Amino acid sequence: MDKGIIEGIINAGNRAPSGGNSQPWRFAVRGDTIQVVMTPEKEHPVMNYRSRGTRIALGAMIENMRIAARHYGFDASVAPLSDGALGALITFRPAGGGETENLFGAIATRHSNRKPYKREELPLEKRNTLFSDKSWFADCRIAFADQTSLQRTAKSLALDVLINLQNENLRKHFFQEVLWREEEQHSRSGLYVKTMEMVPPKSTVLKLLQNKRMAAFFKKLGLLEKILGENAKTIGSTALIGAVIVPNKDEAFVEAGKVVENLWLRTTQAGLSFQLLAGFVFLWQQAEFGDRSLFSDAERKRMGEAYNALGENFGMKDGEMIATAFRIGESSPPMAVSFTRPPEVYWE
Ligand SMILES: Cc1cc2nc3c(=O)[nH]c(=O)nc-3n(C[C@H](O)[C@H](O)[C@H](O)COP(=O)(O)O)c2cc1C
Repeated sequence: MDKGIIEGIINAGNRAPSGGNSQPWRFAVRGDTIQVVMTPEKEHPVMNYRSRGTRIALGAMIENMRIAARHYGFDASVAPLSDGALGALITFRPAGGGETENLFGAIATRHSNRKPYKREELPLEKRNTLFSDKSWFADCRIAFADQTSLQRTAKSLALDVLINLQNENLRKHFFQEVLWREEEQHSRSGLYVKTMEMVPPKSTVLKLLQNKRMAAFFKKLGLLEKILGENAKTIGSTALIGAVIVPNKDEAFVEAGKVVENLWLRTTQAGLSFQLLAGFVFLWQQAEFGDRSLFSDAERKRMGEAYNALGENFGMKDGEMIATAFRIGESSPPMAVSFTRPPEVYWE
């Protein structure tokens, strides 16, 4: 294969979404094979239970590379890494027929939009282009919260920010992922404050909350609950809140990542906005199955209740869990989009 094509496929993979824009991956090229090695150590240590966030990012990357390969006239086949590490070995052969969908153009323009969206229902025609046949994704289904439960759903999904701000074990990690200056994005992971739609006075309040005493003071005055309410209002300002539902096993999170990326690209192509809402469900997994000692009993109870409410709103059955939630709607463009650092590629 042409070197330019391999680079094109890698660049598409490198455009995948990742928790806190950590881009937890590197690439090695040997002949016509691309090896993707995931680096979960680059991710938030608490919000990545069993590297399941990294697995979602891997799935999204594989989906981007599959779409890019198709665009260049190749089919990609994906195998696990021989040493059992998290990643993928991707090989290519000339494309067979069949697929007509071309989402390649949307890979470069896909981004998060954390603004409030319009609440009106999506026109049926747009809904249909988003949710047509997904049967080729194993182990995943997409569920939607009822219009009447949107606010309740949003309130559960907004809870991670409150817990991250009030909990002394988590607050430091949270602020390590906030980038106050645009240029910082070039050298490290994290979310540039404007991509979170924050300008003064909101960003000033956020800055103050870095201080332990200030955070305690805010909590006492009930201001953290007020921030939760505001966040929930933004999340709930939307046409649609959905979730990717999977069985409780690690591999299913890679499949969930493929589903999410495919849906996100379709959303982009349809001119709609998208935000992934995974923070709360990842924090809940840590509190439920991981290091419980990081949380107070009251926090665990509150998160448990919020997760149960989500379970009801998404019609979840026994043995199922939420890999991630998301919202989709019409909006104006975001104030800022995140910067994608160039891929780390080793040519062997
Ligand atoms: C596992 C995972 C979890 C994420 N969780 C959230 C989230 O809770 N809220 C959010 O706004 N974005 C979330 N994102 C989106 C990332 O922040 C985003 O992909 C990254 O900052 C790069 O920006 P871009 O996708 O807009 O280009 C998540 C992404 C992944 C892969």
